Amino acid sequence: MVKVAIVGAGGIAQTHLKVLAENEDVRMVAVCDVVKESAEKAALAYGMKSYTDFDSMLDREQIDALFVCVPPFGHEDIEEKAAAKNIHLLVEKPIGLDMASARRKAEAIKSSGIIAASGYCLRYIDVVEQARHYLADKPIGMVSAHYLSGFVNTPWWRDLAKSGGQLIEQATHTVDLVRYLAGEIRSVYGLMGYGLLEDKAGATIPSVVTVGLDFVSGAVGHIDTACIQPDWRNAVEVMGKDYRLTLSGKSLTITEPNRTTTLEGKTQNMYKEQDDAFIEAVRTHNPALPRSSYANALHTLEVSLAAYESARDERRVKLHF
Ligand SMILES: NC(=O)c1ccc[n+]([C@@H]2O[C@H](COP(=O)([O-])OP(=O)(O)OC[C@H]3O[C@@H](n4cnc5c(N)ncnc54)[C@H](O)[C@@H]3O)[C@@H](O)[C@H]2O)c1
Repeated sequence: MVKVAIVGAGGIAQTHLKVLAENEDVRMVAVCDVVKESAEKAALAYGMKSYTDFDSMLDREQIDALFVCVPPFGHEDIEEKAAAKNIHLLVEKPIGLDMASARRKAEAIKSSGIIAASGYCLRYIDVVEQARHYLADKPIGMVSAHYLSGFVNTPWWRDLAKSGGQLIEQATHTVDLVRYLAGEIRSVYGLMGYGLLEDKAGATIPSVVTVGLDFVSGAVGHIDTACIQPDWRNAVEVMGKDYRLTLSGKSLTITEPNRTTTLEGKTQNMYKEQDDAFIEAVRTHNPALPRSSYANALHTLEVSLAAYESARDERRVKLHF
């Protein structure tokens, strides 16, 4: 049995707890949240011990794997402490808000030898794999992606210093998917706007961001985000000579001369696929099973942070990877 603990008992933790409870190889041992009632509620529902102090949980419990489900600003040195105790990690996206601390964590993880996955769950949808398979031998000319939605009312979300804004907190899934499908990005050019959020008291995040992408392959592209929309739209379109591939939700459409093919995904629960892969990786000591490692998440974070730097300094920013 893999003994699992969770830190941060909010929205996404509930999703993990539900699927972990269905996994016969898992024993849920403990949960920690700085809000006592949140920890106690989750502990009661899933038969775990509850903590408000992370160090106490690590000291007192035998833990094989830890799910890190704190908000972007709350990572402190959770990952370093877990790695020092050889506890394997699944860290929710985004893994942080600055490269220096994320790199420090990545180093601690690497030198400990633990398995560290990150929560880029879209990678576990079957049509995403089918898209990768289709693109495997095709040169890409351009990528056009968007994550357009309404405002999120979670209290910390509107604060740029706490969430990183929509590009880092939500559209990070799109950034990661673009990298997964079209390969590494070597430089970015970001533009952002702050208007149209006057009714959101205290909001410091940009309302709209567009990021120009320059891929190592020579392809170009862009990702657009907006949190001022009445509905939710999210898609990645990849274009090459005589083809266009469009991934939107669980649907994949491939357009070729005289032929359009649409595939509807069959993946029921991407979180279950992701968490089962991670638990199996821990159980069998196979770090190849998770489709997004912590190191991968570091690349995705760098793209978004570089876009902000570019927008601020009004210049193209090269990536370090
Ligand atoms: N993979 C996905 O699809 C997905 C979906 C939703 C959220 N997320 C990510 O999960 C993370 C959490 O989001 P959420 O929606 O669950 O937020 P939330 O605000 O609902 O929950 C966060 C919880 O963490 C607790 N917390 C904060 N700092 C803590 C600390 N230092 N130690 C212990 N507990 C702490 C809070 O009290 C709260 O209960 C975010 O990074 C978010 O982007 C991922």
